[in-house]
Amino acid sequence: MDLTIRNGTLATATETMRCDIGVSGEKIVAIAERLPVGKRDIDAEGRYVLPGGIDSHCHIEQLSGMGIMSADDFYSGTVSAAFGGTTTIVPFAAQHRGTSVTTTVADYHERARTKAVVDYGFHLIIGDPTEKVLSDELPAAIRGGITSFKVYMTYPKWRLEDYQLLEIMSVAEREGALVMVHAENDDMIRWLAKRLIERGHGAPRFHGVAHSPLAEAEATNRIIMLSRLLGAPVLIVHVSSPEATNTIRAAQTLGARIYAETCPQYLVLSAQDMDKPGVEGAKWCCSPPLRDKAAQQAIWSGLANGTFQVYSSDHAPYKFDKTAKIPRGGETTFKEMANGIPGIEMRLPILFSEGVLKKRLTINQFVALGATNHARMYGLYPRKGTIAIGSDADIAIWNPEIEKRIDYSMMHDAVGYTPYEGHVYRGWPEIVLSRGRVVVEGKDLKAARGSGQYLARGVPAPVAAGPAMIDGPARKLKELING
Ligand code: URP
Ligand code: ZN
Ligand code: ZN
Repeated sequence: MDLTIRNGTLATATETMRCDIGVSGEKIVAIAERLPVGKRDIDAEGRYVLPGGIDSHCHIEQLSGMGIMSADDFYSGTVSAAFGGTTTIVPFAAQHRGTSVTTTVADYHERARTKAVVDYGFHLIIGDPTEKVLSDELPAAIRGGITSFKVYMTYPKWRLEDYQLLEIMSVAEREGALVMVHAENDDMIRWLAKRLIERGHGAPRFHGVAHSPLAEAEATNRIIMLSRLLGAPVLIVHVSSPEATNTIRAAQTLGARIYAETCPQYLVLSAQDMDKPGVEGAKWCCSPPLRDKAAQQAIWSGLANGTFQVYSSDHAPYKFDKTAKIPRGGETTFKEMANGIPGIEMRLPILFSEGVLKKRLTINQFVALGATNHARMYGLYPRKGTIAIGSDADIAIWNPEIEKRIDYSMMHDAVGYTPYEGHVYRGWPEIVLSRGRVVVEGKDLKAARGSGQYLARGVPAPVAAGPAMIDGPARKLKELING
């Protein structure tokens, strides 16, 4: 064997055991109580040996809905991911109005190909669902391994009407793709924002007021009803509020095919972080926004009780300068600030420290939420997301004893700040492998630029909170409209 990892505690989404792992080339080839030493041997005594994380929601080298370029390219974004224990990312290829999907996808392949240091796939953001897109380009994207689409219910340049959402969901269901939804009611937000700004309330903290939890809950409820009408699955991304969480939970209890994601910022940051002098609070401005302590509790409960299948970073890195966060310096209002915060490197350490070590989650839930469920939901399982014979040797070795006070100089992204500055987290990855290669060892990056590979993904196999079923009326409707 080329590599052995011995004496550690292996955890998957379902099991925890003391055993050794053998790697040959890019694959895991042996798992046993005791293995002979390989060409390279890693002593993992006192460490957790876990599947490399999968981050299925991050914006890398991407033009946002507001037309702003993210600070990280595929090099800095994947290096930062690797230092946080993540070995696969699925960022977005973003189609803007007037651009074809085919051109968009080719463009993003070119951006990533020579830079990524870990493996990557793409979701497609659909900004312009023309007839040609629906009939030809989406099926072609799926054939090329892009088996999930993100749609927006807000942002003027990306917001789609319910009719368009139905068209996309119907194509996705027929062709075997999953639709991810940014659920916020655009009119409610615009109406509130206009009045707040007219009355001089343009400071960052009013972003949280304009993006009311009711706007999130209304759009969440609406997309659930559209999904139930068609019996088509949807995954609601970056859920932040108790209102939306409860709405999702109720639909799942009925057996609707509704899945959900949340992110680290909704666990450990709050609206108070945005309430800083001047425009400093823009560093914490994301959509949906940070909420209050009660919302944090509701999100933790949703992770523990299975309402959320996936935990992603929504890494949306924008510099705190005139190019992104504060285009008019100190005069910038919350409506003009780039929405999004960085978190690709902090995602798993936050969940490990605050979830596993504080006993809110088991180590197996940590693995499921941070890796395995992403692989299942997005068509990468069992190649990625688990430690099993035949799977890619994507492994992170975690030391639960290391404690770090966060300081931006530790980060490997290109953003220039971290919203977690000064926070203290315990439990960090020490050695990270991607397809059998050591990519991170302590403070050192070992992977070469461009060594990450594109992952053509298969058909999503959603992980249900309960027994998922197609609503009876949706089944009847399907018979009528399809046949
Ligand atoms: O504020 C956020 N989340 N920005 C990134 C874009 C998105 O909607 O996910
Ligand atoms: Zn979004
Ligand atoms: Zn996002």
